[in-house]
Amino acid sequence: MGKPPPFDEKTARRVEAVYTSPDEVRQRDFVLGALDLQPGESVLDIGSGPGFCMRDNAMAVGPSGSVCGVDSSPPMILLAQKRCAGLAQASFREGEATALPAGDGEFDAALATQVYEYVADIPAALAELRRVLRPGGRAVILDTDWSSLVWNARDKARADRIVEAWDRHLADPHLPRTLSAHLRAAGFGIADRKVHVILNPEYGPDSYSRRMLDIIVPFVIRHGGIEKDEAKAWAEELKELGDAGEYFFSLNRYLFVARKPGEG
Ligand SMILES: C[S@@+](CC[C@H](N)C(=O)[O-])C[C@H]1O[C@@H](n2cnc3c(N)ncnc32)[C@H](O)[C@@H]1O
Repeated sequence: MGKPPPFDEKTARRVEAVYTSPDEVRQRDFVLGALDLQPGESVLDIGSGPGFCMRDNAMAVGPSGSVCGVDSSPPMILLAQKRCAGLAQASFREGEATALPAGDGEFDAALATQVYEYVADIPAALAELRRVLRPGGRAVILDTDWSSLVWNARDKARADRIVEAWDRHLADPHLPRTLSAHLRAAGFGIADRKVHVILNPEYGPDSYSRRMLDIIVPFVIRHGGIEKDEAKAWAEELKELGDAGEYFFSLNRYLFVARKPGEG
């Protein structure tokens, strides 16, 4: 897989729209529960995107704590800054997961949700994660394995072509299956692993999978070598399945709680 295209302004806005779906709200609750933030803690959000987790984390650590968002996309940072306006404990730095603009041992906890799957050099990213955590600090990582996708289709060959083209939006669409080994190699202990399932048994306008069509269709046309008519016909077929009561979508995201050895 090559380098995924960067998040430009248009894509950043589409991602923001997907992240207001109830499915994504449930996912953030799941992540926040695993992160278990305490008032006064300092937290790094790697690939903070449109800033929904930043806002939740800022509320959790309170005014005596601090949350820092790092992202390589300036349009994403702008959206997140707007979302966190008025929260003095939230700040942002532009930067790369593999070269974090942060000091050694600066944070009690870190978060990287749906970010490492975009990063080609995972050992470099995890070395940076370990460096910026204090001894005993924890990290919560969440990524998708797109092989877990179950998405009903009448034209299965067409659906397979589109999902294969969509895989190109990531450096590794199957990262979770190798992440435990990567974490151990980087010197982390693994405290927990869990699965979060996004299940859309109906074609609801607010569902994650329905909203993702607004990102997947333009992506596979622009970057995946799929003809416009083919991508539109696939999306239309999903709507027809919804009308016929035959829609079904399910996708697994895997969460890892990693700990840097030592007492903080
Ligand atoms: C799918 S969004 C996830 C946003 C956020 N973590 C969340 O779950 O709400 C991925 C984000 O990671 C950022 N990103 C991708 N590759 C990155 C890298 N190498 N370094 C820093 N940020 C990166 C993108 O700009 C984007 O904002």
